Amino acid sequence: MATRNVVLTRILAVAACVTFLLIVAGEDASQDAGRKESSASDDSSSADRGPAPAHASPDSVHVLVNKRNPLSPRDYAPDDLRNVDAPHEFADAPLREEAAGAYEELHRAAVEEGIELWVTTAYRDEDFQQTLYEQRRLQDGPEAADRVSARPGHSEHQTGLAVDVADLQDRECYLHPCFGDSAQGRWLAEHAHEFGFIIRYPEGAEAITGFHYEPWHLRYLGAETAEEVHESGLTLEEFWDLPPASDYAEAYDPDHAEAYAPD
Ligand code: DAL
Ligand code: ZN
Repeated sequence: MATRNVVLTRILAVAACVTFLLIVAGEDASQDAGRKESSASDDSSSADRGPAPAHASPDSVHVLVNKRNPLSPRDYAPDDLRNVDAPHEFADAPLREEAAGAYEELHRAAVEEGIELWVTTAYRDEDFQQTLYEQRRLQDGPEAADRVSARPGHSEHQTGLAVDVADLQDRECYLHPCFGDSAQGRWLAEHAHEFGFIIRYPEGAEAITGFHYEPWHLRYLGAETAEEVHESGLTLEEFWDLPPASDYAEAYDPDHAEAYAPD
């Protein structure tokens, strides 16, 4: 009798586990179907809602940062930065741990195929981004600056998940759209997703991403998502069915930006 009770208890426990797994799988499948369905159908609803929690959380590798979605807090700094163990132009080239490892793999694979790459800048804190942005405004004027440089608190570089790369042996296309036609640019467009990175600002997508074509700016998303985004041919905003971010909601206020600058 005791043995029969033990067997019955085990059967009930297994049945409960199977039921739980089926419910969880069903929820995942219906959420996924919901995302794709709403992506295909109703644009107006997506324009009204903000990003889902994973896209709003600065610690998530799926955080979405653009002209309409600043980092929160604005002076966010990741706590797992480390220098990449790969060639870099300046003294430091910090990325978050996971992105740094992925970049090192990407770099090794590139070198094996005869492609030389250098990191120019990777993580940039809010203060550094403000300096870069304001230099650009002074040099080119506000409208031109906003097409190529993010305002402080609005740059993917502040997440520790973005890295700019270049060929330092041939500087003709250094941080210039013609980098996309170089051996390095072509290799990255074809292979970066295999290591978890996407070309975040593709050609012809400024009305959605808010920024001019940047074939040198890699954004880490993890291999699975990067592969899906690459295969979709969509921008990150479109892939996640989030509103385009062609411009900021407000005029630039340097005093406000300074208020958020780190000590
Ligand atoms: N150049 C990119 C958009 C940045 O400043 O983050
Ligand atoms: Zn960049």
